[in-house]
Amino acid sequence: MNETARSRISLLLLLLAGLLVSACSSETPPLEGASIGGPFTLTDQNGQKVSDTDFEGKYRLVYFGFSYCPDVCPVDLQSIGQGLGRLEKSKPATAAKVQPIFITVDPERDTPSVLKEYVAAFHPRLIGLTGTPEQIASVAKAYGVYYSRRGEENSKDYLMDHMRIALLFGPDGKPIAIVPHDKGAEGVSSELERWVT
Ligand code: NI
Repeated sequence: MNETARSRISLLLLLLAGLLVSACSSETPPLEGASIGGPFTLTDQNGQKVSDTDFEGKYRLVYFGFSYCPDVCPVDLQSIGQGLGRLEKSKPATAAKVQPIFITVDPERDTPSVLKEYVAAFHPRLIGLTGTPEQIASVAKAYGVYYSRRGEENSKDYLMDHMRIALLFGPDGKPIAIVPHDKGAEGVSSELERWVT
């Protein structure tokens, strides 16, 4: 079993454990105690260095993807952006505690300037992070997110396979829950409302 398959399976087990826990108690965060997340230093859409510690005190809603993604990422990011927008209307103080973060799995093409234009399309506060291929590989691994390049080796025209998962972390950086971006803006806003206090 290779590294990728192993991390895929371990995340799957984690998700199943989370479901069991949430079935038993609605108050325990499904991802409580899960070993995902952790320190990183990356570059934001303005070319500034950004570390996980810059988000101390904020809930972080993290999604990995890539801007050239033809259909999956835009749909998910739209649901995340609109969900947060919904919460901003109903509970602005709560929504203000959430920092949405997009981390690219395609650092080769997703430069800060590409990300700058991209993230602005989904939410005014969405931060886009990129880095060296090594930095990205390391943060994706720490966050349990699988990705791989698909297509011809030397072609610029390639796709990235990646997990579709929106993870919510607390103000201390510890994982809380998977936010159901597949349930649209309403699913996202109600899950945020459930955990962000
Ligand atoms: Ni995508």
